[in-house]
Amino acid sequence: MGVLFEHELKVGVCLSLMKTVLTGVKPTGRIHIGNYLGAMRPAIAMCNQENVQGLLFIADYHSLTTVHNAETLNHMVYDLAATWLALGLDPQQTFIYRQSDVPETFELQWILSCMSAKGLMNRAHAYKAIVQENEKKAKSDLDDGVNMGLYNYPILMAADILLFSADEVPVGEDQVQHVEIARDLAEKFNRIFAEEVIRLPKVVVQKESKIVPGLDGRKMSKSYDNTIPVFMEPKKMRQLVMKIKTDSSGPEDPKDPNSSILFDLYKEFATPEQVEEMAHRYHKGIGWGYVKQDLFEAMESTLSGPREHYKELMNNKDELDQILKEGSSRARERAAELMSRVRTAIGITRRGK
Ligand code: TRP
Repeated sequence: MGVLFEHELKVGVCLSLMKTVLTGVKPTGRIHIGNYLGAMRPAIAMCNQENVQGLLFIADYHSLTTVHNAETLNHMVYDLAATWLALGLDPQQTFIYRQSDVPETFELQWILSCMSAKGLMNRAHAYKAIVQENEKKAKSDLDDGVNMGLYNYPILMAADILLFSADEVPVGEDQVQHVEIARDLAEKFNRIFAEEVIRLPKVVVQKESKIVPGLDGRKMSKSYDNTIPVFMEPKKMRQLVMKIKTDSSGPEDPKDPNSSILFDLYKEFATPEQVEEMAHRYHKGIGWGYVKQDLFEAMESTLSGPREHYKELMNNKDELDQILKEGSSRARERAAELMSRVRTAIGITRRGK
């Protein structure tokens, strides 16, 4: 009862006092340290702020543009939800839900697609990249390999965002254009029908400095095959840490912490005192093996708790379902409010009840 009351109170005040922060994540397979440090940890910190109503959803229908295997998609959705929760997203405070559990999204997508110039989609970068690739290969059909889901992807994303009158949308650099498209569509809708029905979201770009180095020193990325998965057994994780690239300087040689992949990673996991101490040891001279061992231990102390929590959740999908269901019903309360104003604005209304 207490929880219910608190929640209702929050819904009541949220439109005036609370800032709505919304982001979506596409299930794409195993989450790695780069995803965690670059995107998830800052998003969780944003959602956990006092005056923020966070909405975080699993963009399962966005994945359908590329994932055409039921078992894979199903598994990836649970995996991603469990990962966010295990890493500290609080489902009491933040609405966490599956995109597919909010059918209003798809209604709004249609409405927005009727406002969207086709040319706007031609300029979307994911589509353009495929066309350019086809051009290079001198294919006769420049749209080869493009399904309509991929083509309409930015409109679905606009619906995800605009449905909840999001104030801020934290995303990586590659998604900025999509949020701009959402703003364009919102503006167009408001211009045609009525001012201020749809709120224009602000994009929050996740910082470049958070580009996390991978095993070979390039940006940690699945496409470079240089990642450290966020949840793996300690023995395996240690083996990977031992593989991180270092230079050929000897154990006694003084080292520069500012040009060291190991130090960059260590900073993210160790306490400020440990970091200071490590910088000191670099200057004095330290063998790379010791740095790696300390890095591994710092990672382990941050990630071992969440790893256990992740395993528990993956072994209890009923609980995951329950959390996601609860999140979607809370999210839908907000969606209904916007949709009613949108329908009225466009003339899809009924007389009487
Ligand atoms: N397209 C985003 C990505 O690939 C995921 C996404 C879908 C999203 N809908 C969104 C992100 C709405 C922010 C807001 O990363």
